[in-house]
Amino acid sequence: MKKESGTMKMVLDRDYRLAKIDRRIFGSFIEHLGRAVYDGIYQPGNPDSDGEGFRKDVTELVRELNVPIVRYPGGNFVSNFFWEDSVGPKEKRPKRLELAWRSTETNEIGIGEFSRWAKKADTDIMMAVNLGTRGIADACNLLEYCNHPSGTKYSDMRIANGDKDPYRIKTWCLGNEMDGPWQLGGKTMEEYGRLAMETAKAMKLIDPSVELVSCGSSSIEMPTFPQWEAVTLERDYDYVDYVSLHSYYGNRNNDTEDYLASSDDMDRFIRTVIATCDYVKARKRSKKNINLSFDEWNVWFHSNAADEDIMQNHPWQIAPTLLEDVYNFEDALMVGLLLITLLKHADRVKMACLAQLVNVIAPIMTDPNGGAAWRQTIFYPFMQASKYGRGSVLLPSMHVTEHETSGHGTVTDADAVAVYDDEKEEITIFAVNRTQSCDVELTCDVRSFEGYAVKGHQILRSDDLKAVNSSSAENVKPEEGAAFIMDGGILTGILPKMSWNVIRLGMAEE
Ligand code: AHR
Repeated sequence: MKKESGTMKMVLDRDYRLAKIDRRIFGSFIEHLGRAVYDGIYQPGNPDSDGEGFRKDVTELVRELNVPIVRYPGGNFVSNFFWEDSVGPKEKRPKRLELAWRSTETNEIGIGEFSRWAKKADTDIMMAVNLGTRGIADACNLLEYCNHPSGTKYSDMRIANGDKDPYRIKTWCLGNEMDGPWQLGGKTMEEYGRLAMETAKAMKLIDPSVELVSCGSSSIEMPTFPQWEAVTLERDYDYVDYVSLHSYYGNRNNDTEDYLASSDDMDRFIRTVIATCDYVKARKRSKKNINLSFDEWNVWFHSNAADEDIMQNHPWQIAPTLLEDVYNFEDALMVGLLLITLLKHADRVKMACLAQLVNVIAPIMTDPNGGAAWRQTIFYPFMQASKYGRGSVLLPSMHVTEHETSGHGTVTDADAVAVYDDEKEEITIFAVNRTQSCDVELTCDVRSFEGYAVKGHQILRSDDLKAVNSSSAENVKPEEGAAFIMDGGILTGILPKMSWNVIRLGMAEE
Protein backbone atom coordinates (compact mmCIF):
# COMPACT_ATOMS: atom_id res chain seq x y z
CA MET A 1 0.00 0.00 0.00
CA LYS A 2 1.31 3.47 -0.90
CA LYS A 3 2.00 5.79 2.02
CA GLU A 4 -0.22 8.88 2.13
CA SER A 5 2.06 11.14 4.17
CA GLY A 6 5.29 11.26 6.11
CA THR A 7 6.56 13.27 9.05
CA MET A 8 9.85 14.75 10.19
CA LYS A 9 10.10 15.99 13.76
CA MET A 10 13.10 18.05 14.77
CA VAL A 11 14.21 19.78 17.96
CA LEU A 12 16.83 22.52 17.68
CA ASP A 13 18.47 24.10 20.68
CA ARG A 14 20.65 27.20 20.68
CA ASP A 15 23.08 25.56 23.13
CA TYR A 16 23.41 22.18 21.43
CA ARG A 17 25.88 22.60 18.61
CA LEU A 18 27.75 19.89 16.78
CA ALA A 19 30.58 22.07 15.46
CA LYS A 20 31.53 25.27 13.76
CA ILE A 21 31.55 24.73 10.01
CA ASP A 22 34.93 25.06 8.34
CA ARG A 23 34.07 27.08 5.25
CA ARG A 24 36.35 24.82 3.19
CA ILE A 25 33.57 22.21 3.33
CA PHE A 26 32.23 24.09 0.28
CA GLY A 27 35.39 23.62 -1.77
CA SER A 28 35.57 22.42 -5.36
CA PHE A 29 38.06 20.99 -7.84
CA ILE A 30 39.62 21.84 -11.20
CA GLU A 31 41.72 19.21 -12.93
CA HIS A 32 43.64 19.38 -16.17
CA LEU A 33 41.01 17.13 -17.72
CA GLY A 34 38.73 17.58 -20.71
CA ARG A 35 37.47 21.15 -21.03
CA ALA A 36 37.85 22.14 -17.36
CA VAL A 37 40.90 24.37 -17.81
CA TYR A 38 41.15 24.85 -21.60
CA ASP A 39 37.76 26.01 -22.99
CA GLY A 40 36.52 26.17 -19.39
CA ILE A 41 38.13 28.72 -17.11
CA TYR A 42 40.60 29.70 -19.87
CA GLN A 43 39.68 30.53 -23.44
CA PRO A 44 41.76 33.28 -25.01
CA GLY A 45 39.93 34.78 -27.97
CA ASN A 46 36.50 34.36 -26.42
CA PRO A 47 34.78 37.80 -26.35
CA ASP A 48 34.04 37.20 -22.67
CA SER A 49 37.67 36.56 -21.72
CA ASP A 50 39.92 39.03 -19.92
CA GLY A 51 43.44 40.12 -20.95
CA GLU A 52 44.93 36.92 -19.49
CA GLY A 53 42.49 34.69 -21.37
CA PHE A 54 40.28 33.81 -18.41
CA ARG A 55 36.56 33.71 -19.10
CA LYS A 56 34.92 36.44 -17.05
CA ASP A 57 31.46 34.83 -17.18
CA VAL A 58 32.88 31.59 -15.75
CA THR A 59 34.82 33.41 -13.02
CA GLU A 60 31.64 35.30 -12.13
CA LEU A 61 29.67 32.05 -11.73
CA VAL A 62 32.46 30.59 -9.58
CA ARG A 63 32.21 33.67 -7.36
CA GLU A 64 28.44 33.21 -7.22
CA LEU A 65 29.03 29.71 -5.87
CA ASN A 66 31.20 31.18 -3.14
CA VAL A 67 33.89 28.49 -3.32
CA PRO A 68 36.58 29.01 -0.65
CA ILE A 69 39.13 26.48 -1.94
CA VAL A 70 39.79 24.70 -5.26
CA ARG A 71 41.80 21.50 -5.52
CA TYR A 72 44.33 21.56 -8.39
CA PRO A 73 45.76 20.25 -10.80
CA GLY A 74 44.32 16.72 -10.29
CA GLY A 75 42.98 14.12 -9.80
CA ASN A 76 44.46 11.31 -11.81
CA PHE A 77 46.25 13.93 -13.91
CA VAL A 78 48.61 14.83 -11.07
CA SER A 79 50.11 11.34 -10.86
CA ASN A 80 52.18 11.89 -13.99
CA PHE A 81 52.45 15.69 -13.89
CA PHE A 82 55.77 17.41 -14.41
CA TRP A 83 55.10 20.79 -12.90
CA GLU A 84 58.26 22.38 -14.32
CA ASP A 85 56.75 22.02 -17.82
CA SER A 86 53.97 24.41 -16.86
CA VAL A 87 56.03 27.41 -15.67
CA GLY A 88 58.21 29.94 -17.47
CA PRO A 89 57.66 31.51 -20.90
CA LYS A 90 54.56 29.98 -22.51
CA GLU A 91 56.18 29.61 -25.92
CA LYS A 92 58.86 27.37 -24.41
CA ARG A 93 56.49 25.06 -22.55
CA PRO A 94 56.40 21.54 -23.98
CA LYS A 95 53.28 19.69 -25.05
CA ARG A 96 52.99 16.34 -23.28
CA LEU A 97 51.12 13.08 -23.64
CA GLU A 98 48.69 13.14 -20.72
CA LEU A 99 48.30 9.49 -19.75
CA ALA A 100 45.50 9.59 -17.17
CA TRP A 101 42.93 10.83 -19.68
CA ARG A 102 44.86 10.01 -22.90
CA SER A 103 44.85 13.66 -24.00
CA THR A 104 47.46 16.22 -25.05
CA GLU A 105 48.47 18.68 -22.34
CA THR A 106 49.68 21.99 -23.77
CA ASN A 107 50.88 23.41 -20.44
CA GLU A 108 49.57 26.85 -21.37
CA ILE A 109 48.16 27.04 -17.86
CA GLY A 110 50.36 26.22 -14.90
CA ILE A 111 50.60 27.09 -11.24
CA GLY A 112 51.41 30.78 -11.92
CA GLU A 113 48.39 31.35 -14.14
CA PHE A 114 46.15 29.27 -11.89
CA SER A 115 47.12 31.27 -8.82
CA ARG A 116 46.15 34.46 -10.68
CA TRP A 117 42.83 32.90 -11.69
CA ALA A 118 42.21 31.83 -8.06
CA LYS A 119 42.60 35.45 -6.95
CA LYS A 120 40.04 36.57 -9.53
CA ALA A 121 37.67 33.81 -8.42
CA ASP A 122 38.24 34.77 -4.76
CA THR A 123 39.36 31.31 -3.75
CA ASP A 124 42.38 29.50 -2.30
CA ILE A 125 44.27 26.61 -3.86
CA MET A 126 44.48 23.08 -2.48
CA MET A 127 47.55 21.78 -4.32
CA ALA A 128 48.28 18.14 -5.07
CA VAL A 129 51.77 16.70 -5.58
CA ASN A 130 52.73 13.82 -7.85
CA LEU A 131 53.45 10.77 -5.70
CA GLY A 132 52.69 8.43 -8.60
CA THR A 133 55.54 8.69 -11.10
CA ARG A 134 57.57 11.12 -8.98
CA GLY A 135 58.33 11.50 -5.30
CA ILE A 136 59.76 13.36 -2.32
CA ALA A 137 62.27 15.57 -4.14
CA ASP A 138 59.77 16.86 -6.69
CA ALA A 139 57.15 17.54 -4.04
CA CYS A 140 59.76 19.53 -2.12
CA ASN A 141 60.85 21.45 -5.22
CA LEU A 142 57.27 22.40 -6.02
CA LEU A 143 56.62 23.54 -2.46
CA GLU A 144 59.83 25.60 -2.54
CA TYR A 145 58.72 27.13 -5.86
CA CYS A 146 55.29 28.02 -4.48
CA ASN A 147 55.88 29.05 -0.88
CA HIS A 148 59.52 29.97 -0.23
CA PRO A 149 60.07 33.75 -0.35
CA SER A 150 63.37 33.98 -2.27
CA GLY A 151 67.08 33.21 -2.41
CA THR A 152 66.91 29.54 -3.45
CA LYS A 153 66.88 27.73 -6.79
CA TYR A 154 63.11 27.23 -7.06
CA SER A 155 61.92 30.37 -5.27
CA ASP A 156 64.19 32.43 -7.52
CA MET A 157 62.84 30.53 -10.52
CA ARG A 158 59.34 31.67 -9.54
CA ILE A 159 60.55 35.25 -9.21
CA ALA A 160 62.29 35.05 -12.59
CA ASN A 161 58.97 33.83 -14.00
CA GLY A 162 57.33 37.04 -12.83
CA ASP A 163 55.84 36.14 -9.44
CA LYS A 164 57.76 38.00 -6.76
CA ASP A 165 55.41 37.04 -3.96
CA PRO A 166 55.07 33.42 -2.93
CA TYR A 167 51.68 31.84 -3.52
CA ARG A 168 51.49 30.80 0.16
CA ILE A 169 49.50 27.64 -0.53
CA LYS A 170 48.46 26.17 2.79
CA THR A 171 46.77 22.87 1.93
CA TRP A 172 48.57 20.08 0.04
CA CYS A 173 47.38 16.64 -1.04
CA LEU A 174 50.01 13.89 -0.85
CA GLY A 175 49.15 12.32 -4.21
CA ASN A 176 45.79 11.22 -5.55
CA GLU A 177 43.88 7.93 -5.22
CA MET A 178 47.07 5.98 -4.71
CA ASP A 179 45.03 2.84 -3.90
CA GLY A 180 43.49 2.74 -7.39
CA PRO A 181 44.80 0.22 -9.95
CA TRP A 182 44.08 2.90 -12.61
CA GLN A 183 46.43 5.37 -10.93
CA LEU A 184 49.76 5.99 -12.64
CA GLY A 185 52.38 4.82 -10.19
CA GLY A 186 49.74 3.34 -7.84
CA LYS A 187 51.05 1.94 -4.58
CA THR A 188 50.35 -0.76 -2.03
CA MET A 189 49.25 0.58 1.33
CA GLU A 190 52.64 -0.18 2.86
CA GLU A 191 54.47 1.61 0.03
CA TYR A 192 52.18 4.63 0.16
CA GLY A 193 52.18 4.95 3.95
CA ARG A 194 55.94 5.16 4.01
CA LEU A 195 56.19 7.50 1.01
CA ALA A 196 53.52 9.82 2.41
CA MET A 197 55.24 9.93 5.77
CA GLU A 198 58.66 10.75 4.29
CA THR A 199 57.20 13.34 1.90
CA ALA A 200 55.20 14.98 4.68
CA LYS A 201 58.26 15.09 6.93
CA ALA A 202 60.30 16.84 4.24
CA MET A 203 57.51 19.25 3.24
CA LYS A 204 56.97 20.34 6.84
CA LEU A 205 60.69 21.07 7.14
CA ILE A 206 60.39 23.47 4.19
CA ASP A 207 57.18 25.11 5.39
CA PRO A 208 55.85 24.09 8.81
CA SER A 209 52.65 26.05 8.20
CA VAL A 210 51.35 23.70 5.49
CA GLU A 211 48.48 21.31 6.14
CA LEU A 212 48.79 17.89 4.54
CA VAL A 213 46.19 15.43 3.30
CA SER A 214 47.03 11.72 3.28
CA CYS A 215 45.34 9.72 0.50
CA GLY A 216 42.49 7.62 1.76
CA SER A 217 40.42 5.20 -0.27
CA SER A 218 39.07 6.06 -3.72
CA SER A 219 35.66 4.80 -2.65
CA ILE A 220 33.94 2.72 -0.01
CA GLU A 221 33.87 -0.11 -2.58
CA MET A 222 37.65 -0.49 -2.80
CA PRO A 223 38.73 -3.98 -1.70
CA THR A 224 41.44 -2.45 0.49
CA PHE A 225 39.00 -0.18 2.37
CA PRO A 226 39.32 0.48 5.35
CA GLN A 227 42.58 -1.38 5.88
CA TRP A 228 44.22 1.18 3.59
CA GLU A 229 43.42 3.98 6.06
CA ALA A 230 44.54 1.91 9.07
CA VAL A 231 47.88 0.91 7.52
CA THR A 232 48.77 4.24 5.87
CA LEU A 233 47.82 6.32 8.92
CA GLU A 234 49.83 3.99 11.12
CA ARG A 235 52.83 5.32 9.18
CA ASP A 236 52.05 8.97 8.56
CA TYR A 237 49.71 9.87 11.46
CA ASP A 238 52.13 12.24 13.20
CA TYR A 239 52.96 14.12 10.00
CA VAL A 240 49.61 14.67 8.30
CA ASP A 241 46.47 16.59 9.21
CA TYR A 242 43.70 15.06 7.09
CA VAL A 243 42.81 11.89 5.30
CA SER A 244 40.97 12.08 1.97
CA LEU A 245 37.72 10.39 0.89
CA HIS A 246 36.40 10.22 -2.67
CA SER A 247 32.99 9.06 -3.84
CA TYR A 248 30.75 9.39 -6.89
CA TYR A 249 27.10 8.42 -7.12
CA GLY A 250 24.67 7.72 -9.96
CA ASN A 251 21.20 6.44 -10.80
CA ARG A 252 22.62 3.51 -12.74
CA ASN A 253 19.53 1.29 -12.38
CA ASN A 254 17.03 4.07 -13.02
CA ASP A 255 15.52 3.58 -9.56
CA THR A 256 15.16 7.09 -8.15
CA GLU A 257 14.29 6.24 -4.53
CA ASP A 258 17.17 3.79 -4.29
CA TYR A 259 19.50 6.33 -5.91
CA LEU A 260 18.54 9.02 -3.40
CA ALA A 261 19.06 6.55 -0.56
CA SER A 262 22.72 6.29 -1.53
CA SER A 263 23.60 9.43 0.44
CA ASP A 264 23.42 6.98 3.37
CA ASP A 265 26.46 5.27 1.80
CA MET A 266 28.36 8.54 2.13
CA ASP A 267 27.34 8.70 5.78
CA ARG A 268 28.60 5.14 6.36
CA PHE A 269 31.85 5.93 4.53
CA ILE A 270 32.48 8.97 6.73
CA ARG A 271 31.65 7.12 9.94
CA THR A 272 33.99 4.25 9.09
CA VAL A 273 36.87 6.58 8.23
CA ILE A 274 36.38 8.50 11.50
CA ALA A 275 36.40 5.20 13.40
CA THR A 276 39.58 4.11 11.61
CA CYS A 277 41.36 7.41 12.31
CA ASP A 278 40.40 7.14 15.96
CA TYR A 279 41.53 3.51 16.11
CA VAL A 280 45.00 4.57 14.92
CA LYS A 281 44.91 7.51 17.36
CA ALA A 282 44.24 5.08 20.20
CA ARG A 283 46.99 2.69 19.10
CA LYS A 284 49.45 5.57 19.01
CA ARG A 285 48.24 7.02 22.34
CA SER A 286 48.05 10.26 20.37
CA LYS A 287 46.27 13.43 21.43
CA LYS A 288 45.85 14.62 17.86
CA ASN A 289 42.77 14.05 15.72
CA ILE A 290 43.03 13.39 12.01
CA ASN A 291 40.16 15.19 10.29
CA LEU A 292 38.50 14.35 6.98
CA SER A 293 38.92 15.97 3.58
CA PHE A 294 36.13 14.65 1.34
CA ASP A 295 37.99 16.14 -1.58
CA GLU A 296 36.09 14.47 -4.44
CA TRP A 297 32.34 13.99 -4.31
CA ASN A 298 29.53 14.35 -6.83
CA VAL A 299 27.22 12.51 -9.19
CA TRP A 300 29.14 10.94 -12.08
CA PHE A 301 27.73 8.32 -14.42
CA HIS A 302 25.92 9.97 -17.35
CA SER A 303 29.04 10.37 -19.48
CA ASN A 304 30.79 7.05 -18.72
CA ALA A 305 30.25 5.35 -22.12
CA ALA A 306 31.14 8.48 -24.13
CA ASP A 307 34.31 8.97 -22.04
CA GLU A 308 35.40 5.41 -22.67
CA ASP A 309 34.89 5.87 -26.42
CA ILE A 310 36.93 9.10 -26.56
CA MET A 311 39.81 7.72 -24.52
CA GLN A 312 39.96 4.39 -26.37
CA ASN A 313 39.13 5.45 -29.92
CA HIS A 314 39.99 9.16 -30.20
CA PRO A 315 42.96 9.74 -27.89
CA TRP A 316 45.46 12.61 -27.64
CA GLN A 317 43.04 15.46 -28.31
CA ILE A 318 43.59 18.86 -26.70
CA ALA A 319 40.68 19.58 -24.33
CA PRO A 320 38.44 16.69 -25.40
CA THR A 321 34.80 16.53 -24.35
CA LEU A 322 35.32 14.29 -21.33
CA LEU A 323 33.15 13.72 -18.24
CA GLU A 324 30.55 16.22 -19.44
CA ASP A 325 27.65 14.85 -17.42
CA VAL A 326 24.47 16.84 -17.98
CA TYR A 327 22.68 16.77 -14.66
CA ASN A 328 18.95 16.43 -14.21
CA PHE A 329 16.57 17.36 -11.43
CA GLU A 330 17.00 14.15 -9.41
CA ASP A 331 20.80 14.67 -9.52
CA ALA A 332 20.25 18.07 -7.90
CA LEU A 333 18.30 16.36 -5.10
CA MET A 334 21.17 13.90 -4.72
CA VAL A 335 23.71 16.73 -4.45
CA GLY A 336 21.46 18.34 -1.82
CA LEU A 337 21.41 15.09 0.18
CA LEU A 338 25.20 14.78 -0.06
CA LEU A 339 25.63 18.37 1.16
CA ILE A 340 23.36 17.62 4.13
CA THR A 341 25.41 14.52 4.92
CA LEU A 342 28.70 16.45 4.82
CA LEU A 343 27.30 19.17 7.09
CA LYS A 344 26.02 16.57 9.56
CA HIS A 345 29.66 15.55 10.02
CA ALA A 346 31.06 19.08 10.31
CA ASP A 347 32.84 18.11 13.52
CA ARG A 348 35.25 15.92 11.52
CA VAL A 349 34.75 16.76 7.83
CA LYS A 350 36.65 20.02 7.59
CA MET A 351 37.21 20.14 3.85
CA ALA A 352 35.21 18.82 0.91
CA CYS A 353 35.45 19.42 -2.83
CA LEU A 354 32.55 19.17 -5.23
CA ALA A 355 34.25 17.41 -8.16
CA GLN A 356 34.49 19.28 -10.31
CA LEU A 357 33.77 22.96 -11.04
CA VAL A 358 33.69 23.72 -14.78
CA ASN A 359 32.61 21.47 -17.71
CA VAL A 360 33.96 18.25 -16.17
CA ILE A 361 31.22 16.73 -13.93
CA ALA A 362 30.50 20.31 -13.05
CA PRO A 363 27.87 22.80 -11.87
CA ILE A 364 29.14 25.35 -14.44
CA MET A 365 29.20 24.62 -18.18
CA THR A 366 30.47 26.44 -21.24
CA ASP A 367 29.07 25.83 -24.69
CA PRO A 368 31.76 24.37 -27.03
CA ASN A 369 30.26 26.43 -29.87
CA GLY A 370 30.39 29.77 -28.07
CA GLY A 371 27.70 31.42 -25.98
CA ALA A 372 27.61 32.32 -22.33
CA ALA A 373 28.40 29.98 -19.46
CA TRP A 374 25.38 28.34 -17.83
CA ARG A 375 24.26 26.74 -14.58
CA GLN A 376 23.51 23.02 -14.32
CA THR A 377 20.73 21.81 -11.98
CA ILE A 378 23.27 20.92 -9.27
CA PHE A 379 24.53 24.52 -9.23
CA TYR A 380 21.60 25.59 -7.09
CA PRO A 381 21.73 23.35 -4.01
CA PHE A 382 25.50 23.88 -3.85
CA MET A 383 25.17 27.64 -4.18
CA GLN A 384 22.48 27.86 -1.51
CA ALA A 385 24.32 25.59 0.93
CA SER A 386 27.52 27.54 0.38
CA LYS A 387 25.72 30.86 0.90
CA TYR A 388 23.59 29.96 3.93
CA GLY A 389 25.56 27.06 5.40
CA ARG A 390 27.88 29.28 7.42
CA GLY A 391 28.12 29.21 11.21
CA SER A 392 27.57 26.13 13.36
CA VAL A 393 25.69 22.92 12.73
CA LEU A 394 23.06 22.40 15.39
CA LEU A 395 23.01 18.92 16.92
CA PRO A 396 20.36 17.07 14.96
CA SER A 397 17.64 15.61 17.11
CA MET A 398 15.23 14.11 14.57
CA HIS A 399 12.55 11.53 14.08
CA VAL A 400 11.52 10.75 10.50
CA THR A 401 9.13 8.24 8.92
CA GLU A 402 10.66 5.64 6.62
CA HIS A 403 10.21 3.76 3.36
CA GLU A 404 11.68 0.67 1.70
CA THR A 405 14.18 0.82 -1.16
CA SER A 406 15.40 -1.92 -3.51
CA GLY A 407 19.09 -1.72 -2.62
CA HIS A 408 19.38 0.26 0.61
CA GLY A 409 16.68 -1.36 2.74
CA THR A 410 14.66 0.94 5.00
CA VAL A 411 15.63 4.59 4.79
CA THR A 412 14.17 7.84 6.11
CA ASP A 413 11.65 9.67 3.91
CA ALA A 414 13.60 12.90 4.27
CA ASP A 415 16.95 14.13 5.50
CA ALA A 416 17.81 17.54 6.95
CA VAL A 417 20.41 19.59 8.77
CA ALA A 418 20.17 22.94 10.55
CA VAL A 419 22.87 25.61 10.57
CA TYR A 420 22.96 28.49 13.04
CA ASP A 421 24.73 31.69 11.98
CA ASP A 422 25.15 33.55 15.27
CA GLU A 423 26.59 36.64 13.60
CA LYS A 424 23.48 37.11 11.48
CA GLU A 425 21.14 35.59 14.08
CA GLU A 426 19.74 33.18 11.50
CA ILE A 427 18.96 29.48 11.29
CA THR A 428 18.85 27.74 7.93
CA ILE A 429 17.31 24.30 7.60
CA PHE A 430 18.32 22.35 4.49
CA ALA A 431 15.92 19.48 3.85
CA VAL A 432 15.27 16.97 1.07
CA ASN A 433 12.14 14.86 0.76
CA ARG A 434 13.46 11.78 -1.06
CA THR A 435 10.21 9.86 -1.50
CA GLN A 436 8.24 9.76 -4.72
CA SER A 437 5.02 8.81 -2.95
CA CYS A 438 4.33 11.35 -0.22
CA ASP A 439 4.78 14.84 1.12
CA VAL A 440 6.52 15.08 4.50
CA GLU A 441 5.19 17.35 7.22
CA LEU A 442 8.06 19.04 9.03
CA THR A 443 7.58 20.07 12.67
CA CYS A 444 10.53 21.81 14.27
CA ASP A 445 10.76 22.93 17.87
CA VAL A 446 12.87 26.12 17.98
CA ARG A 447 11.58 27.49 21.28
CA SER A 448 15.12 28.19 22.53
CA PHE A 449 15.46 30.75 19.72
CA GLU A 450 13.10 33.24 21.25
CA GLY A 451 11.59 35.80 18.90
CA TYR A 452 12.48 33.89 15.71
CA ALA A 453 10.14 34.04 12.72
CA VAL A 454 10.15 32.54 9.22
CA LYS A 455 12.34 34.61 6.86
CA GLY A 456 11.85 32.57 3.72
CA HIS A 457 11.50 29.21 2.06
CA GLN A 458 13.16 28.42 -1.24
CA ILE A 459 12.43 25.19 -2.99
CA LEU A 460 13.79 23.20 -5.93
CA ARG A 461 11.23 20.86 -7.49
CA SER A 462 10.06 19.59 -10.84
CA ASP A 463 7.38 17.23 -12.10
CA ASP A 464 10.01 15.81 -14.42
CA LEU A 465 12.78 13.99 -12.55
CA LYS A 466 14.87 13.97 -15.72
CA ALA A 467 14.53 17.72 -16.47
CA VAL A 468 17.87 19.35 -17.35
CA ASN A 469 19.17 22.86 -17.89
CA SER A 470 21.08 23.95 -20.99
CA SER A 471 22.70 27.07 -22.42
CA SER A 472 19.26 28.12 -23.69
CA ALA A 473 16.83 26.90 -20.99
CA GLU A 474 16.82 26.99 -17.19
CA ASN A 475 14.18 24.36 -16.45
CA VAL A 476 15.38 23.66 -12.93
CA LYS A 477 15.98 26.58 -10.61
CA PRO A 478 14.85 27.56 -7.10
CA GLU A 479 11.52 29.24 -6.54
CA GLU A 480 9.71 30.62 -3.52
CA GLY A 481 8.15 27.79 -1.50
CA ALA A 482 4.82 27.57 0.25
CA ALA A 483 4.51 29.30 3.59
CA PHE A 484 6.03 27.70 6.68
CA ILE A 485 4.32 28.81 9.88
CA MET A 486 5.88 29.67 13.25
CA ASP A 487 3.56 29.43 16.22
CA GLY A 488 4.82 29.61 19.79
CA GLY A 489 8.33 28.60 18.72
CA ILE A 490 7.10 25.60 16.72
CA LEU A 491 7.77 25.68 12.99
CA THR A 492 5.48 23.67 10.70
CA GLY A 493 5.25 23.24 6.95
CA ILE A 494 5.34 20.77 4.10
CA LEU A 495 8.37 19.30 2.32
CA PRO A 496 6.74 18.28 -0.98
CA LYS A 497 7.69 14.88 -2.42
CA MET A 498 10.96 15.02 -4.34
CA SER A 499 12.11 18.47 -3.27
CA TRP A 500 15.14 20.37 -1.94
CA ASN A 501 14.17 23.03 0.62
CA VAL A 502 16.01 25.94 2.20
CA ILE A 503 14.03 27.30 5.14
CA ARG A 504 15.42 30.41 6.78
CA LEU A 505 14.50 31.64 10.26
CA GLY A 506 15.61 34.80 12.05
CA MET A 507 14.63 37.45 14.55
CA ALA A 508 11.15 38.79 13.81
CA GLU A 509 11.07 42.40 12.58
CA GLU A 510 9.97 44.85 15.29
O1 AHR B 1 37.19 13.77 -10.87
C1 AHR B 1 37.48 12.84 -11.87
C2 AHR B 1 38.45 11.77 -11.43
O2 AHR B 1 37.84 10.96 -10.46
C3 AHR B 1 39.71 12.24 -10.75
O3 AHR B 1 40.71 12.56 -11.64
C4 AHR B 1 40.11 11.05 -9.94
O4 AHR B 1 40.83 11.41 -8.79
C5 AHR B 1 38.81 10.35 -9.64
O5 AHR B 1 38.88 8.99 -9.92
